[in-house]
Amino acid sequence: MNKDNETYLKLFWGGSNHHKRCLLSKNAKVTTVTTAVIVLFCLVATFCDFAALNTYIIAGVSIENQNLSSISIDKHQEQEFPLECTKGTQTCPRNYPTKHNPTNHNNHICPSYFKWIHEDLKAWREKGITREMLEGARRTANFKVVIVEGRLYLEKYKKSIQTRDVFTLWGILQLLRLYPGKLPDLELMFDCEDRPVIHLDKFQGPNASPPPLFRYCSDQWSLDIVFPDWSFWGWAETNIKPWKEVLKDIKEGNKRTKWKDRVPYAYWKGNPKVAATRKNLMKCNVTSKNDWNTRLYVQDWDKESNQGYKKSSLGNQCTHRYKIYIEGWAWSVSEKYILACDSMTLYVRPKYHDFFIRGMEPLQHYWPIRDDSKCTSLKFAVEWGNNHVDKAQSIGEAASKFIQEDLDMNNVYSYMFHLLNEYAKLLKFKPTIPQGAIEFCSETMACGVNGTQRKFMEESMVKFPSDSNPCTIPPPYDPLTLQEFLERKENSTRQVEIWEDEYWLNKSNGQ
Ligand SMILES: *[C@@H]1O[C@H](CO)[C@@H](O)[C@H](O)[C@H]1NC(C)=O
Ligand SMILES: *[C@@H]1O[C@H](CO)[C@@H](O)[C@H](O)[C@H]1NC(C)=O
Ligand SMILES: *[C@@H]1O[C@H](CO)[C@@H](O)[C@H](O)[C@H]1NC(C)=O
Ligand SMILES: *[C@@H]1O[C@H](CO)[C@@H](O)[C@H](O)[C@H]1NC(C)=O
Ligand SMILES: *[C@@H]1O[C@H](CO)[C@@H](O)[C@H](O)[C@H]1NC(C)=O
Repeated sequence: MNKDNETYLKLFWGGSNHHKRCLLSKNAKVTTVTTAVIVLFCLVATFCDFAALNTYIIAGVSIENQNLSSISIDKHQEQEFPLECTKGTQTCPRNYPTKHNPTNHNNHICPSYFKWIHEDLKAWREKGITREMLEGARRTANFKVVIVEGRLYLEKYKKSIQTRDVFTLWGILQLLRLYPGKLPDLELMFDCEDRPVIHLDKFQGPNASPPPLFRYCSDQWSLDIVFPDWSFWGWAETNIKPWKEVLKDIKEGNKRTKWKDRVPYAYWKGNPKVAATRKNLMKCNVTSKNDWNTRLYVQDWDKESNQGYKKSSLGNQCTHRYKIYIEGWAWSVSEKYILACDSMTLYVRPKYHDFFIRGMEPLQHYWPIRDDSKCTSLKFAVEWGNNHVDKAQSIGEAASKFIQEDLDMNNVYSYMFHLLNEYAKLLKFKPTIPQGAIEFCSETMACGVNGTQRKFMEESMVKFPSDSNPCTIPPPYDPLTLQEFLERKENSTRQVEIWEDEYWLNKSNGQ
């Protein structure tokens, strides 16, 4: 961690008074991660697999012995395009393929949450997006991305929190490497702050021209377009590895503690200071007088940051049967790590959504928790789970399966591809390279940095184009089906609330 970062982290978590305003909003982002599992040996094991594969190639083992899938992997490993750092001024290499020529033409429909791409772009469906509308989004944007003929250019407006902007751009660059030449030209504005800002009620009526603005989360009253957050490529400041690695780690971790052997309470660890609802949650902790079936802990970020997040207690957090998800300043990055744990997620009614959560359903993937009566709600949820262990376990496992499969990096890239592709179709102007803009590529971003940032970039770098196309985007919801889907989710939540009320009524009647 460099000096700048150190000071920065102090500012974040140090709590000195004249930084209070920053603290409120900034703390939120940092502390939103409550968990993650880091298992080093897993990484090592993966590396060994990889090495073994190469040995086979070198040893010239005959192809007949290999399965088709491994042949196509081998073929690509021979034409990897690693980072090409040069001495002096770093330039963008010109040897990377500029066309996408997959040999595998199998295709499948993307997970259903991709349908929300159509919903998120609906506001512009009829009239399209003019340059004026795009410029309207500049007010809060951190940067503008321009893609022309497969190359990326950047107009930077203001610094983002930590390395959010850096890893978001890195992610888009990797998408360009995965599907070279496949994205149409486009220009887009990106805002790296937490909360949505394009409020629906300001853009009503036939002459409304809402600015299209990309960010990590939105809510039902806003038009902000949701995009995968930076942590999919790594969160350097908290030492959380790229998603692909974390997924492997959690999978390993899940094998270590069988569901029925896990601690039969609801676990949460994080920073309660970032939002009133979290402070409120702390009242539900176990005391000598009350047991709400919870075990709640405060994440000591000062201590963690001093230790460089080495321990971060990030490991061993899939040890409880139930894990609580609760929003911070906005949506929380911790969500996917919690949902991947095999534990039944107790999901406190949210205000915000990211790009994938809209595909998940209460009682199928998580257990809904009231936000206006958390303690009683949590107590009942745990009691229900411990009385229905098979059902609770299968809810936990359904969520893990969703996260492991529907949210693996292939699908994340496919989502980005379709979102940007559909978005680009709406542009009413010809995207042009801004005057004086420099080209961005993996080399210009990674070669100049050291430490964790560099490590995560190398780990998450796409080394060769995909051998297949992105999955096929499903058609939009017809309005009736969408309404039914939302109603079904509301119904399941209501069902749980009815059980809960009955449980407390029975209790007060002394049953
Ligand atoms: C090929 O794949 C099949 C089924 O997926 C598996 O049983 C077999 O062991 C594989 N063979 C090799 C050489 O990897
Ligand atoms: C909650 O209770 C446990 C057990 O008494 C304790 O270890 C923990 O520090 C408490 N958490 C908070 C946030 O007070
Ligand atoms: C990265 O670290 C190495 C070794 O400590 C050093 O030689 C190099 O100059 C550093 N590069 C940058 C960009 O800071
Ligand atoms: C939701 O519940 C209402 C009332 O119980 C019922 O009429 C409706 O059919 C349910 N909707 C769905 C989609 O299940
Ligand atoms: C409440 O009590 C009734 C009658 O004993 C019972 O049928 C019902 O299952 C109980 N409900 C809950 C949620 O415990």
